[in-house]
Amino acid sequence: MFTRNTVLTAALVFGTAVSAAFAAAQDPDVIARKEAMGLIGGDVKKLTTMVKGETAFDAVQAQAWFGEIAAQAARVPVLFEPKSNRDPESKAKDDVWTNWDDFLTKAAGLKLAAEAGASVDSPEALGAAMGGLGEACKACHSVYKE
Ligand code: HEC
Repeated sequence: MFTRNTVLTAALVFGTAVSAAFAAAQDPDVIARKEAMGLIGGDVKKLTTMVKGETAFDAVQAQAWFGEIAAQAARVPVLFEPKSNRDPESKAKDDVWTNWDDFLTKAAGLKLAAEAGASVDSPEALGAAMGGLGEACKACHSVYKE
């Protein structure tokens, strides 16, 4: 259920997720996956601002951001497939590739969570969808990101 708590939890989770700055990676594979994550993070930041009521609720805009997150989530398997983990700026743990199937499951979870937001039509629905999205980020980052 949508509660004020859900929103606050989501804001906390996302606050950590999006605070990572774009780093100066050199490896093109690492750059590409960081760029996709950065796009996702940027959309989440804008959605969080809307959840908090700092910007007016706009269903069409929110749906577009969720749609972009779903599209980026669909690219995760391809973007992470090359096991590029020598770049010092990489924050991906080697477990990504040793537990590849589980990583893919978590990427699919992100896509599903984003798709669930692609039809939000009220602030309440937005808050609920953001809760699910936050869980999806956390489920992967807590295991596979340094
Ligand atoms: C399937 C796993 C997975 C999911 C789901 C996931 N991430 Fe990530 N994310 C990663 C990994 C792994 C990295 C580290 C990549 C690297 O440094 O090479 C990362 C890095 C990031 C970064 C830092 C990018 C940079 O420039 O270093 C941000 C921001 C980010 N994720 C945001 C999010 C948000 C927001 C969500 C949820 C909406 C999310 N991620 C969902 C795996 C995931």
